[in-house]
Amino acid sequence: MIDLPNRTCNNMTASWTKTLRSLSVAGIAAALAFTPALMGSANATPVRPWMNTALTPEQRADKLLKAMTFSQKVHMTHGQKIFKGDKAIPGIGWIPPIPELGVPQFVQSDGPAGVRNGDDLASKFPSPIAYAASWDPSIPYLQGRVAGEEARALGTDQLYGPGFNLARNPLGGRGFEYYGEDPYLSGMMAAANVKGIQSNKVIATLKHYVANNQEMLRNFGSSNVPERALNEMYMKPFQIAIAESNPGGVMCSYNQINGVHGCGNYYTLMTSLRHRMGFKGYVGTDHPASWSPTDLKNGLNVEMPFNGMTREPFIRAAIAAGKMTEKDVDDRVRETLTVMFRFGLFDRDHKVRPINVERGYQAAKKIAQKGAVLLKNKNNALPLSTASSKTIAVIGNPAKDTKAVTGDPIRAFADQFGSSATKAIRQDNALAEITKRAKGSKVTYNASDDTAGAVASAKKADTALVFVAQSSAEAFDNETIELSRSDQDLIDAVSKVNKRTIVVIYTGYPVAMPWLNKVEGVLNMWEPGEAGGAAVASLLFGDVNPSGRLPQTFPAADGQWPANTFSQFPGDGLGMNVNYTEGIWIGYRWYQKQNLRPLFPFGYGLSYTTFKYSAPRLIATSGGKNTPIKVSFTVTNTGTRAGSSAAQIYVGKPQAGLPVPVKELGAYQMVHLKPGESKTVTVTIDPLQLSVWNDQLNKFVVKPGVYKIYIGQNVDNTPLYLTYTVR
Ligand code: BGC
Repeated sequence: MIDLPNRTCNNMTASWTKTLRSLSVAGIAAALAFTPALMGSANATPVRPWMNTALTPEQRADKLLKAMTFSQKVHMTHGQKIFKGDKAIPGIGWIPPIPELGVPQFVQSDGPAGVRNGDDLASKFPSPIAYAASWDPSIPYLQGRVAGEEARALGTDQLYGPGFNLARNPLGGRGFEYYGEDPYLSGMMAAANVKGIQSNKVIATLKHYVANNQEMLRNFGSSNVPERALNEMYMKPFQIAIAESNPGGVMCSYNQINGVHGCGNYYTLMTSLRHRMGFKGYVGTDHPASWSPTDLKNGLNVEMPFNGMTREPFIRAAIAAGKMTEKDVDDRVRETLTVMFRFGLFDRDHKVRPINVERGYQAAKKIAQKGAVLLKNKNNALPLSTASSKTIAVIGNPAKDTKAVTGDPIRAFADQFGSSATKAIRQDNALAEITKRAKGSKVTYNASDDTAGAVASAKKADTALVFVAQSSAEAFDNETIELSRSDQDLIDAVSKVNKRTIVVIYTGYPVAMPWLNKVEGVLNMWEPGEAGGAAVASLLFGDVNPSGRLPQTFPAADGQWPANTFSQFPGDGLGMNVNYTEGIWIGYRWYQKQNLRPLFPFGYGLSYTTFKYSAPRLIATSGGKNTPIKVSFTVTNTGTRAGSSAAQIYVGKPQAGLPVPVKELGAYQMVHLKPGESKTVTVTIDPLQLSVWNDQLNKFVVKPGVYKIYIGQNVDNTPLYLTYTVR
């Protein structure tokens, strides 16, 4: 197909003749069919060879770039905010069109938990850590596919997500928006999310690149990260996502990396992202995160609103001073245009369509169900049945008011903004959904601050469900992993009078549970999104068997976590110098090294059935440095309900040279089994998961030697063991 309506015979140039020659027969017929009308046009517009969709995005970008003036190129190096009501298409970032060249407007919106364009309502999905907790790539894919579809419907070309900075420390305020503490799991889950978003021809954005692991002084501080940790931990999820999903966008982060700003950092943006990882998209800043026009030379494509560093006079001055060249501008603009062509921005309009509300709700429900993690289930208290729970006491505001937070006014305010603060179209609640599901049983409700009423109801009930929440939001780090004092007191009071007390937690990050022994069940829903009520009811009653597993270790108490000195977090000068002196030792790697027992280990989660792992086998027991390892094993459902087990395969690299963790996640596979069923699965461990970063060579290296392979249900429960030799 070619775009012809705007062309006239008067403007037929040599390149147009060339374009015609390159057209298919059908294309020429189409061209001729348009000719009479075009010949008569009085308002002639120039020929636009870049509108020929038979060309590759790269060829189209080249042709357009050649036709651009310097000012038009500079126009493409920065975006602006769209203020509500200002333009027809709402968005969080916007590059205005260049009508004389047919360059369309470029509309960008948040975010990781659903479209947030500052104006419209959209489906609100659970906090993204829930997607990772599914250990099932079809879940982040689903979220991406539906959010991408809604983005297209709302006229957005680019979504700012997935966000997947590693959880270095549970106090990092945006942990709820990310995918946990492991580079491999994070990278694979982000890749699935990108594929979902981009299946709609909406550009996905990997953010925030890189080492952006706290909120304190996030715009100014320097993350001082040893090179090995930077590459092996913090950049690796981006590397995996790029290799697996070819994302169109990367958002460079606010923070400095080793003293150089994230959006002007040649090492992270050029040496690593483009040259080593092979990123083919365009880099836009966080809002705002550019500090010099020479950021363009160092790998930045687009400055988003807006420090104004890429205004034309500044760029001209930098070129005149010999600090950068016009070619730097050309290179960056070509990359941006290539992405715009690749995703069809020149070939579509921004027509706004209605969102499919029901589809979004059903997707949000499935994601909440699959991400939920059952943490305790003593005496098989769950699932509930209407036979044994004739009276159910539902207690706590989050069951009814999904905006309920801990009562801290700052946080209550904070919950209303941030890039994941999508405004839901439809919002259910647990109390209504439980009441519906428990038909025939009596369901009572008491608010969080009505302890006396809650105790009275719980005393009379067969089951007490206590809902507690722990909120977090962009721009704030967390202060503690403890629930509020009042929520803890409520759990204590209720559990004293009701033996079957189940705690349901709405949270985006780990929770300490000094009260754990007092209750029979704990169901962690994360922040469950617009369909959280239906999801929680289906899980509590066993319509859905919980299969989520923790993508982040739950510490035993405040302070039991890596990077726990002031100089490490929030850093010297209250965040000006954040010293990653712990190196690669974060998450479960750190707990193993310290020999510490957390409350719940990485990968942990229960089910209403049980699983047995057996018959481990290597398809080949040795291979070369670039050979993937294939491991097979059998998983059996030993219980009486259908269920899914997240099989986890960990690698222990040879202890030669640099220190290496005892176990690191190398592969995983969600296995679905009927009661009594067995399945033999074969998984592949990519050689990247065997490698260690080598500072001198600036690359990952696989050492020859004996590798340990552990298979099981969480990092601390790996009953199967094999060894493999790399020659
Ligand atoms: C956040 C980004 C977000 C951007 C646009 C920034 O403050 O860090 O995650 O995409 O704003 O809303």
